[in-house]
Amino acid sequence: CPSTLVKGLNIFHKQFQAKESDIFVASFPKSGTTWLKAITFAIVNRQSFSSIDNHPLLTSNPHQLVPHVEMVCRGDLDCSSIEPRVFGPHTPVPSLPNSIMECNSKIIYICRNPFDIFVSAWIFFDKVKPESLTSLKIEEAFEMYCNGIIEFGPWWSHMLGYWKESLAKPDKVLFLKYEDLKDDANFQVKRIAEFLGFPFTQEEENNQVIESIVKLCSFEEMKNLEVNKSGIVFQSVENKSFFRKGESRDWVNYFSPSMTEKLSQIMEEKFGESGDIF
Ligand code: A3P
Repeated sequence: CPSTLVKGLNIFHKQFQAKESDIFVASFPKSGTTWLKAITFAIVNRQSFSSIDNHPLLTSNPHQLVPHVEMVCRGDLDCSSIEPRVFGPHTPVPSLPNSIMECNSKIIYICRNPFDIFVSAWIFFDKVKPESLTSLKIEEAFEMYCNGIIEFGPWWSHMLGYWKESLAKPDKVLFLKYEDLKDDANFQVKRIAEFLGFPFTQEEENNQVIESIVKLCSFEEMKNLEVNKSGIVFQSVENKSFFRKGESRDWVNYFSPSMTEKLSQIMEEKFGESGDIF
């Protein structure tokens, strides 16, 4: 609901006080937030769990372990005793509270190909919408998407905002791509851990801790967990709706040639001067 969204953003912007040790897993919706939340949680908390067999990610959805910042601002969650705190904002850069940008907290942003985001979002929002609302045809949803009309949109400003911050402040913002995580998750997990100041020791590497984290957070493992097959994260959104195909380039099964041409043109227009964002 747009008004709840704006209210949440407003509270976040005005009331949230970041701590130096905070970590923000930022993303545009449907970019792989759930996956990156799981990975980040597993990396920073790895000393707390003696065995992977009793890991909280086996019994909790990543969105429960890495909450939306607005829930904390509303007082729904008490994170005062947790260190480091890990939050998951979808907030665009200009709406982030000043305290986040001014202190030494870290931001990891996950970006995904806008073609795949569209398909993922169209299917997701249709699944979670109230029954009283009629489904949007793909053409209608696509038109809105191309005009930047989507939760936390326009998506190009969202991506460019974090991209520019990552170039200006590489120690503060790590810009990741869903597709790179798919290609070589071990490498990216190591990179994330180093960026966050939680690097793996040689002993951990020898004991295949990186591989264990990658496996624990993989699409196949997470989708098949009981907690992610049933249960609800927030409002009436079911955990299972966060796990669909988990692949890159599924968009080819949905896009017509004219949709492909239109979105390619928009990307050229918006990202043409932005180096290798895509
Ligand atoms: P698809 O709809 O293309 O399958 P978000 O978490 O930002 O809502 O993004 C959801 C997308 O990430 C969905 O994409 C979902 O299937 C995919 N996803 C969720 N968990 C994943 C994982 N562990 N590995 C890879 N992709 C995952």
